Amino acid sequence: MASSTFFFFSYFLLVSVAAASPENYLHLRFFQHERILGVANATVVLSVNADNSGLATGFGNVVAYENALRETTDLRAPVIGHSQGLGIGSDRSGASGFTAFSMVFTGGRYNGSSLDIQGIFISQPLLETVSERAIVGGTGRFRGARGYLLSKEIVLTPETLTGQLDAFINYYHLRFFQHERILGTPNATVVLSVNADNSGLATGFGNIVAYDNALRETTDLRAPIIGHSQGLGIGSDRSGASGFTVFSMVFTGGKYNGSSLDIQGIFHIAAVAGDGGINSDSAIVEQISPSLPVVDSL
Ligand SMILES: *[C@@H]1O[C@H](CO)[C@@H](O)[C@H](O)[C@H]1NC(C)=O
Ligand SMILES: *[C@@H]1O[C@H](CO)[C@@H](O)[C@H](O)[C@H]1NC(C)=O
Ligand SMILES: *[C@@H]1O[C@H](CO)[C@@H](O)[C@H](O)[C@H]1NC(C)=O
Ligand SMILES: *[C@@H]1O[C@H](CO)[C@@H](O)[C@H](O)[C@H]1NC(C)=O
Repeated sequence: MASSTFFFFSYFLLVSVAAASPENYLHLRFFQHERILGVANATVVLSVNADNSGLATGFGNVVAYENALRETTDLRAPVIGHSQGLGIGSDRSGASGFTAFSMVFTGGRYNGSSLDIQGIFISQPLLETVSERAIVGGTGRFRGARGYLLSKEIVLTPETLTGQLDAFINYYHLRFFQHERILGTPNATVVLSVNADNSGLATGFGNIVAYDNALRETTDLRAPIIGHSQGLGIGSDRSGASGFTVFSMVFTGGKYNGSSLDIQGIFHIAAVAGDGGINSDSAIVEQISPSLPVVDSL
């Protein structure tokens, strides 16, 4: 059989999810521009004045804010979002307070996304003191984000306060190579369970395949097997161009021995067609798991 025949026999030629590289992070820097409490067009308002001090830091006092975010310290730079949320005086000495806010991006590279921050802001001394707060979540590009925010106030004028915000967002990028012995070959790691359309193809509408494909850290078939992708694919696209898959990557060796990752989603055959790494019995195709964006910065 020609290799192209094998190719059409299995759309799960797919193999490989990201490489065993270490934990990594995304570092983003923003500048926050506040018009301070009490000035014209203040971006901070005192909601609760529990101790009658009129200060944001009073014990029990609450402020709400909508501070502008920009890519630079320049007040004339475009606003790319706002830090919206609250601070509550939760320190009897007035030296710090608890904050919870969202950095909501309405322009720039992260337009439409947001980061959620929670933690203690240290207000004394105000300038150059680094506060570390948790990144507890996000939306859009930052969906599921975890990490930490380091912030410090760097410029104070009679009306404005400028802070530097450094967000460090954790993400994992792991790469594996999946080795499949194609449907129909000796010792195939894929089997046709349901042949609903009688095509014998994994991609037939309604057809179901089960698989037990080997996972290795490299493309080398002689490298140690560190686990298997076990699961199923169902032809759920009338054109045969894609299918729905659900499987577990079960690690039985290597660094992640004893752990597993559960994957669910649509597999596109086009991604396979573009790859040259196919021979008559096995296929190696690289798939990068889309999670958080790769390391970059503003
Ligand atoms: C306050 O905002 C108004 C309306 O945007 C603007 O005309 C005015 O110049 C602002 N005042 C200050 C002090 O920024
Ligand atoms: C941000 O995204 C919204 C929605 O897609 C769009 O309407 C708006 O023009 C964008 N703003 C900027 C500054 O890019
Ligand atoms: C199939 O598996 C058997 C048993 O492990 C092995 O002896 C044989 O060489 C394999 N055949 C191919 C083509 O890999
Ligand atoms: C994987 O872990 C199991 C259970 O701890 C152990 O028995 C086995 O030897 C490990 N395999 C490898 C290849 O490290």
